[in-house]
Amino acid sequence: MNILAIETSCDETAAAVVEDGRAVLSSVIYSQIEEHKLYGGVVPEIASRRHTEQIIPVTRAALDQVGLTLEEVDAVAVTYAPGLIGALLVGVSFAKGLCLGGGKPLIPVHHIRGHIAANYIAHPKLAPPFLCLVVSGGHSHIVEVLDYTRFCLIGKTRDDAAGEAFDKVARVLGLGYPGGVALDQIGSTGNPGAYPLPRPKVTGSPYDFSFSGLKTAVINLAHNASQKGESLHIPDLAASFGATVAEILTLRFFAAARELGYKTLACAGGVSANSRLRAALEAKAGAQGCTLYLPPLSLCGDNAAMIGAQAYYEYQAGHTADFGLNACASLPIGEDRYNIKQEVIL
Ligand code: KG4
Ligand code: ZN
Repeated sequence: MNILAIETSCDETAAAVVEDGRAVLSSVIYSQIEEHKLYGGVVPEIASRRHTEQIIPVTRAALDQVGLTLEEVDAVAVTYAPGLIGALLVGVSFAKGLCLGGGKPLIPVHHIRGHIAANYIAHPKLAPPFLCLVVSGGHSHIVEVLDYTRFCLIGKTRDDAAGEAFDKVARVLGLGYPGGVALDQIGSTGNPGAYPLPRPKVTGSPYDFSFSGLKTAVINLAHNASQKGESLHIPDLAASFGATVAEILTLRFFAAARELGYKTLACAGGVSANSRLRAALEAKAGAQGCTLYLPPLSLCGDNAAMIGAQAYYEYQAGHTADFGLNACASLPIGEDRYNIKQEVIL
Protein backbone atom coordinates (compact mmCIF):
# COMPACT_ATOMS: atom_id res chain seq x y z
CA MET A 1 0.00 0.00 0.00
CA ASN A 2 1.46 3.36 -1.07
CA ILE A 3 0.53 6.31 1.13
CA LEU A 4 1.12 9.96 0.23
CA ALA A 5 1.83 11.74 3.52
CA ILE A 6 1.70 15.46 4.31
CA GLU A 7 3.30 17.17 7.33
CA THR A 8 2.88 20.89 8.15
CA SER A 9 2.67 20.99 11.96
CA CYS A 10 5.44 23.54 12.52
CA ASP A 11 8.06 25.07 10.23
CA GLU A 12 8.74 22.24 7.77
CA THR A 13 6.50 21.72 4.75
CA ALA A 14 6.96 18.03 3.94
CA ALA A 15 5.52 15.32 1.72
CA ALA A 16 6.52 11.69 1.23
CA VAL A 17 5.38 8.45 -0.33
CA VAL A 18 5.77 5.42 1.95
CA GLU A 19 5.09 1.78 1.07
CA ASP A 20 3.52 -0.51 3.68
CA GLY A 21 4.68 1.65 6.59
CA ARG A 22 8.34 0.74 6.25
CA ALA A 23 9.83 1.72 2.86
CA VAL A 24 10.28 5.39 1.99
CA LEU A 25 9.83 5.77 -1.77
CA SER A 26 10.29 9.56 -1.71
CA SER A 27 10.59 12.30 0.87
CA VAL A 28 10.72 16.06 0.32
CA ILE A 29 11.18 18.69 3.05
CA TYR A 30 11.02 22.45 2.60
CA SER A 31 12.49 24.02 5.74
CA GLN A 32 11.50 27.55 6.71
CA ILE A 33 14.15 27.80 9.42
CA GLU A 34 16.26 30.49 7.73
CA GLU A 35 13.27 32.86 7.71
CA HIS A 36 12.24 32.18 11.33
CA LYS A 37 15.86 32.62 12.48
CA LEU A 38 15.48 36.35 11.89
CA TYR A 39 12.90 36.43 14.72
CA GLY A 40 14.63 34.01 17.10
CA GLY A 41 11.76 31.51 16.91
CA VAL A 42 8.91 30.25 14.74
CA VAL A 43 6.41 32.99 13.83
CA PRO A 44 3.12 31.07 13.44
CA GLU A 45 1.56 33.28 10.79
CA ILE A 46 4.67 33.21 8.62
CA ALA A 47 4.77 29.42 8.98
CA SER A 48 1.17 29.10 7.73
CA ARG A 49 1.81 31.39 4.78
CA ARG A 50 4.92 29.48 3.69
CA HIS A 51 3.07 26.17 3.98
CA THR A 52 0.36 27.58 1.72
CA GLU A 53 2.98 28.56 -0.87
CA GLN A 54 5.05 25.39 -0.68
CA ILE A 55 2.54 22.60 -0.16
CA ILE A 56 1.75 22.01 -3.83
CA PRO A 57 5.35 22.08 -5.16
CA VAL A 58 6.58 19.92 -2.27
CA THR A 59 3.81 17.34 -2.79
CA ARG A 60 4.31 17.34 -6.53
CA ALA A 61 8.05 16.76 -6.01
CA ALA A 62 7.36 13.82 -3.67
CA LEU A 63 5.11 12.18 -6.29
CA ASP A 64 7.50 12.98 -9.18
CA GLN A 65 10.49 11.48 -7.33
CA VAL A 66 8.79 8.10 -7.30
CA GLY A 67 7.06 8.52 -10.66
CA LEU A 68 3.53 8.19 -9.29
CA THR A 69 0.44 10.27 -9.92
CA LEU A 70 -2.17 11.04 -7.28
CA GLU A 71 -4.44 8.46 -8.91
CA GLU A 72 -1.79 5.78 -8.30
CA VAL A 73 -1.39 6.26 -4.52
CA ASP A 74 -3.74 4.29 -2.27
CA ALA A 75 -4.44 6.89 0.43
CA VAL A 76 -3.47 10.34 1.69
CA ALA A 77 -2.25 10.84 5.26
CA VAL A 78 -1.89 14.12 7.11
CA THR A 79 -0.67 15.36 10.49
CA TYR A 80 -3.77 16.75 12.22
CA ALA A 81 -2.40 17.21 15.78
CA PRO A 82 -0.58 18.54 17.75
CA GLY A 83 1.17 21.67 16.44
CA LEU A 84 0.62 25.26 15.36
CA ILE A 85 -3.06 25.42 14.49
CA GLY A 86 -2.73 27.61 11.41
CA ALA A 87 0.12 25.48 10.10
CA LEU A 88 -1.78 22.22 10.68
CA LEU A 89 -4.88 23.60 8.95
CA VAL A 90 -2.95 24.14 5.72
CA GLY A 91 -1.95 20.47 5.57
CA VAL A 92 -5.35 19.18 6.70
CA SER A 93 -7.28 21.29 4.17
CA PHE A 94 -4.88 20.39 1.38
CA ALA A 95 -5.06 16.65 2.17
CA LYS A 96 -8.86 16.82 2.18
CA GLY A 97 -8.79 18.46 -1.24
CA LEU A 98 -6.53 15.68 -2.57
CA CYS A 99 -8.85 13.01 -1.17
CA LEU A 100 -11.93 14.71 -2.53
CA GLY A 101 -10.38 15.13 -5.98
CA GLY A 102 -8.75 11.71 -6.12
CA GLY A 103 -11.38 9.66 -4.27
CA LYS A 104 -8.79 8.45 -1.73
CA PRO A 105 -9.12 7.52 1.95
CA LEU A 106 -7.95 10.25 4.35
CA ILE A 107 -5.73 9.05 7.22
CA PRO A 108 -5.27 11.42 10.19
CA VAL A 109 -1.91 11.08 11.99
CA HIS A 110 -0.80 12.33 15.41
CA HIS A 111 2.59 14.05 15.02
CA ILE A 112 4.20 12.37 18.03
CA ARG A 113 3.01 8.93 16.90
CA GLY A 114 4.74 9.82 13.62
CA HIS A 115 8.02 10.59 15.39
CA ILE A 116 7.89 7.16 17.05
CA ALA A 117 7.14 5.52 13.67
CA ALA A 118 10.35 6.99 12.21
CA ASN A 119 11.95 4.01 13.95
CA TYR A 120 9.84 1.53 11.92
CA ILE A 121 11.41 2.91 8.74
CA ALA A 122 14.95 2.49 10.02
CA HIS A 123 14.50 -0.77 11.94
CA PRO A 124 12.53 -3.47 10.12
CA LYS A 125 12.59 -5.73 13.20
CA LEU A 126 11.08 -3.18 15.56
CA ALA A 127 7.47 -3.91 16.52
CA PRO A 128 5.39 -3.02 19.60
CA PRO A 129 5.31 -3.42 22.50
CA PHE A 130 8.25 -1.21 23.45
CA LEU A 131 8.99 1.84 25.58
CA CYS A 132 9.85 5.07 23.77
CA LEU A 133 11.49 8.30 24.91
CA VAL A 134 10.05 11.09 22.75
CA VAL A 135 12.06 14.32 22.92
CA SER A 136 11.24 17.17 20.57
CA GLY A 137 10.85 20.94 20.54
CA GLY A 138 7.40 20.71 22.10
CA HIS A 139 7.34 17.39 23.98
CA SER A 140 9.35 15.26 26.40
CA HIS A 141 7.45 12.02 26.91
CA ILE A 142 8.03 8.49 28.11
CA VAL A 143 5.48 6.47 26.14
CA GLU A 144 4.46 2.84 26.30
CA VAL A 145 3.84 1.79 22.69
CA LEU A 146 1.35 -1.00 23.45
CA ASP A 147 0.67 -1.67 19.80
CA TYR A 148 0.96 0.40 16.62
CA THR A 149 -2.03 2.59 17.51
CA ARG A 150 -2.33 2.22 21.29
CA PHE A 151 -0.18 4.36 23.55
CA CYS A 152 0.10 5.01 27.26
CA LEU A 153 1.84 8.14 28.54
CA ILE A 154 4.08 7.21 31.48
CA GLY A 155 5.91 10.50 32.04
CA LYS A 156 6.10 13.99 30.63
CA THR A 157 7.70 17.35 31.22
CA ARG A 158 6.03 19.65 33.72
CA ASP A 159 7.40 22.78 32.06
CA ASP A 160 9.84 23.16 29.16
CA ALA A 161 10.35 20.38 26.64
CA ALA A 162 13.96 19.20 26.25
CA GLY A 163 14.29 20.83 22.80
CA GLU A 164 12.83 24.07 24.10
CA ALA A 165 15.43 24.12 26.90
CA PHE A 166 18.21 23.51 24.36
CA ASP A 167 16.92 26.33 22.17
CA LYS A 168 16.55 28.83 25.03
CA VAL A 169 20.00 28.10 26.46
CA ALA A 170 21.52 28.30 22.99
CA ARG A 171 19.93 31.68 22.43
CA VAL A 172 21.38 33.08 25.68
CA LEU A 173 24.80 31.76 24.70
CA GLY A 174 24.50 33.52 21.34
CA LEU A 175 24.24 30.36 19.25
CA GLY A 176 21.17 31.40 17.19
CA TYR A 177 17.86 29.59 16.57
CA PRO A 178 17.09 26.73 16.72
CA GLY A 179 20.15 26.20 18.84
CA GLY A 180 19.96 22.51 19.75
CA VAL A 181 22.31 21.33 17.01
CA ALA A 182 24.75 24.22 17.53
CA LEU A 183 24.83 23.60 21.30
CA ASP A 184 25.44 19.90 20.65
CA GLN A 185 28.28 20.61 18.23
CA ILE A 186 30.05 23.25 20.29
CA GLY A 187 29.68 21.11 23.42
CA SER A 188 31.33 18.12 21.78
CA THR A 189 34.77 19.61 22.47
CA GLY A 190 33.95 20.77 26.01
CA ASN A 191 34.35 19.26 29.47
CA PRO A 192 30.93 18.00 30.68
CA GLY A 193 32.05 18.21 34.32
CA ALA A 194 33.20 21.84 34.17
CA TYR A 195 29.97 23.48 35.36
CA PRO A 196 27.95 21.60 38.00
CA LEU A 197 24.25 22.10 37.16
CA PRO A 198 21.03 21.16 39.01
CA ARG A 199 19.12 18.00 38.14
CA PRO A 200 15.55 18.92 39.11
CA LYS A 201 13.16 16.13 40.09
CA VAL A 202 9.37 16.20 40.18
CA THR A 203 8.35 15.10 43.68
CA GLY A 204 6.03 12.10 43.65
CA SER A 205 6.32 11.62 39.86
CA PRO A 206 9.51 9.66 39.18
CA TYR A 207 9.03 9.58 35.38
CA ASP A 208 8.14 13.25 34.87
CA PHE A 209 10.72 15.83 33.83
CA SER A 210 11.33 19.46 34.68
CA PHE A 211 13.83 21.42 32.62
CA SER A 212 12.99 25.02 33.45
CA GLY A 213 15.14 25.15 36.63
CA LEU A 214 18.12 23.73 34.77
CA LYS A 215 17.61 26.17 31.90
CA THR A 216 17.33 29.09 34.35
CA ALA A 217 20.53 27.99 36.13
CA VAL A 218 22.47 28.27 32.86
CA ILE A 219 20.84 31.59 31.98
CA ASN A 220 21.72 32.95 35.45
CA LEU A 221 25.34 31.82 35.03
CA ALA A 222 25.48 33.71 31.74
CA HIS A 223 23.89 36.87 33.17
CA ASN A 224 26.07 36.87 36.32
CA ALA A 225 29.20 36.44 34.24
CA SER A 226 28.28 39.31 31.95
CA GLN A 227 27.46 41.59 34.94
CA LYS A 228 30.89 40.86 36.42
CA GLY A 229 32.59 41.30 33.07
CA GLU A 230 33.75 37.68 33.17
CA SER A 231 33.61 35.31 30.24
CA LEU A 232 32.23 31.80 30.26
CA HIS A 233 33.85 28.86 28.53
CA ILE A 234 31.07 28.18 26.01
CA PRO A 235 32.18 24.66 24.92
CA ASP A 236 32.44 23.59 28.59
CA LEU A 237 29.06 25.10 29.48
CA ALA A 238 27.41 23.57 26.40
CA ALA A 239 28.96 20.19 27.27
CA SER A 240 27.83 20.45 30.92
CA PHE A 241 24.27 21.38 29.91
CA GLY A 242 24.06 18.66 27.24
CA ALA A 243 25.41 16.00 29.60
CA THR A 244 22.99 17.04 32.35
CA VAL A 245 19.95 16.85 30.03
CA ALA A 246 21.14 13.49 28.71
CA GLU A 247 21.61 12.16 32.24
CA ILE A 248 18.15 13.32 33.42
CA LEU A 249 16.40 11.79 30.40
CA THR A 250 18.36 8.54 30.52
CA LEU A 251 17.93 7.94 34.27
CA ARG A 252 14.15 8.48 34.21
CA PHE A 253 13.68 6.50 31.01
CA PHE A 254 15.59 3.46 32.25
CA ALA A 255 13.90 3.64 35.65
CA ALA A 256 10.53 3.43 33.86
CA ALA A 257 11.78 0.59 31.65
CA ARG A 258 12.93 -1.39 34.70
CA GLU A 259 9.71 -0.76 36.61
CA LEU A 260 7.48 -1.70 33.65
CA GLY A 261 9.66 -4.61 32.52
CA TYR A 262 10.58 -3.33 29.03
CA LYS A 263 13.78 -4.58 27.39
CA THR A 264 12.94 -3.18 23.95
CA LEU A 265 13.44 0.57 23.88
CA ALA A 266 13.39 3.39 21.33
CA CYS A 267 13.97 7.12 21.18
CA ALA A 268 12.34 9.65 18.83
CA GLY A 269 11.98 13.36 18.04
CA GLY A 270 14.35 16.19 17.14
CA VAL A 271 16.42 15.89 20.34
CA SER A 272 17.07 12.19 19.64
CA ALA A 273 19.74 13.57 17.25
CA ASN A 274 21.71 14.81 20.28
CA SER A 275 25.09 13.11 20.44
CA ARG A 276 25.40 13.00 24.24
CA LEU A 277 21.85 11.65 24.62
CA ARG A 278 22.44 8.94 22.02
CA ALA A 279 25.71 7.92 23.70
CA ALA A 280 24.16 7.90 27.19
CA LEU A 281 21.17 5.80 26.04
CA GLU A 282 23.40 3.36 24.19
CA ALA A 283 25.75 2.94 27.16
CA LYS A 284 22.88 2.32 29.58
CA ALA A 285 21.10 -0.06 27.18
CA GLY A 286 24.31 -2.07 26.82
CA ALA A 287 24.82 -2.21 30.59
CA GLN A 288 21.20 -3.28 31.23
CA GLY A 289 20.96 -5.83 28.41
CA CYS A 290 18.26 -3.84 26.56
CA THR A 291 17.81 -3.49 22.80
CA LEU A 292 17.76 0.19 21.89
CA TYR A 293 16.48 1.58 18.59
CA LEU A 294 17.47 5.10 17.56
CA PRO A 295 16.24 6.86 14.41
CA PRO A 296 18.95 7.83 11.90
CA LEU A 297 19.74 11.56 12.08
CA SER A 298 17.82 12.14 8.84
CA LEU A 299 14.57 10.96 10.50
CA CYS A 300 14.92 12.64 13.92
CA GLY A 301 13.51 16.03 12.92
CA ASP A 302 10.15 16.73 11.30
CA ASN A 303 9.49 14.92 8.02
CA ALA A 304 6.53 13.38 6.20
CA ALA A 305 8.03 9.89 5.83
CA MET A 306 7.40 9.20 9.51
CA ILE A 307 3.77 10.34 9.04
CA GLY A 308 3.41 7.92 6.13
CA ALA A 309 4.87 5.11 8.26
CA GLN A 310 2.42 5.64 11.13
CA ALA A 311 -0.46 6.18 8.67
CA TYR A 312 -0.10 2.62 7.38
CA TYR A 313 -0.81 1.24 10.86
CA GLU A 314 -3.62 3.74 11.51
CA TYR A 315 -5.23 2.57 8.25
CA GLN A 316 -4.84 -1.08 9.25
CA ALA A 317 -6.66 -0.23 12.49
CA GLY A 318 -9.53 1.35 10.52
CA HIS A 319 -8.61 4.90 11.48
CA THR A 320 -9.73 6.97 8.51
CA ALA A 321 -11.39 10.38 8.70
CA ASP A 322 -14.30 11.95 6.89
CA PHE A 323 -14.25 15.47 5.46
CA GLY A 324 -15.21 16.91 8.85
CA LEU A 325 -11.58 16.36 9.95
CA ASN A 326 -10.24 19.35 11.86
CA ALA A 327 -6.79 20.19 13.22
CA CYS A 328 -6.03 20.14 16.99
CA ALA A 329 -3.27 22.30 18.49
CA SER A 330 -2.89 19.88 21.39
CA LEU A 331 -3.99 16.28 21.76
CA PRO A 332 -2.66 13.58 24.11
CA ILE A 333 -0.84 10.81 22.24
CA GLY A 334 -3.30 8.15 23.40
CA GLU A 335 -6.39 9.97 22.09
CA ASP A 336 -8.00 10.18 18.66
CA ARG A 337 -10.08 13.19 17.65
CA TYR A 338 -10.72 12.79 13.95
CA ASN A 339 -14.22 11.40 13.90
CA ILE A 340 -16.19 14.25 15.39
CA LYS A 341 -19.29 14.61 13.26
CA GLN A 342 -19.72 18.22 12.17
CA GLU A 343 -23.19 19.62 11.83
CA VAL A 344 -23.48 21.11 8.38
CA ILE A 345 -25.80 24.10 8.12
CA LEU A 346 -27.24 24.42 4.66
O1 KG4 B 1 10.92 17.00 16.55
P1 KG4 B 1 11.35 18.34 16.10
O2 KG4 B 1 12.04 18.47 14.76
O3 KG4 B 1 10.15 19.34 16.10
C1 KG4 B 1 9.13 19.27 17.01
O4 KG4 B 1 8.21 18.44 16.82
O5 KG4 B 1 9.23 20.05 18.00
O6 KG4 B 1 12.32 18.88 17.24
C2 KG4 B 1 12.96 20.12 17.14
C3 KG4 B 1 13.84 20.33 18.36
C4 KG4 B 1 14.41 21.73 18.43
O7 KG4 B 1 14.20 22.22 19.74
C5 KG4 B 1 15.89 21.51 18.14
O8 KG4 B 1 16.75 22.46 18.74
C6 KG4 B 1 16.10 20.14 18.73
O9 KG4 B 1 14.95 19.42 18.34
N1 KG4 B 1 17.32 19.48 18.23
C7 KG4 B 1 18.38 19.17 19.01
C8 KG4 B 1 19.35 18.58 18.16
N2 KG4 B 1 18.84 18.55 16.89
C9 KG4 B 1 17.59 19.11 16.96
N3 KG4 B 1 18.58 19.32 20.34
C10 KG4 B 1 19.75 18.89 20.84
N4 KG4 B 1 20.74 18.34 20.09
C11 KG4 B 1 20.58 18.16 18.76
N5 KG4 B 1 21.56 17.60 18.03
ZN1 ZN C 1 8.25 17.08 15.54
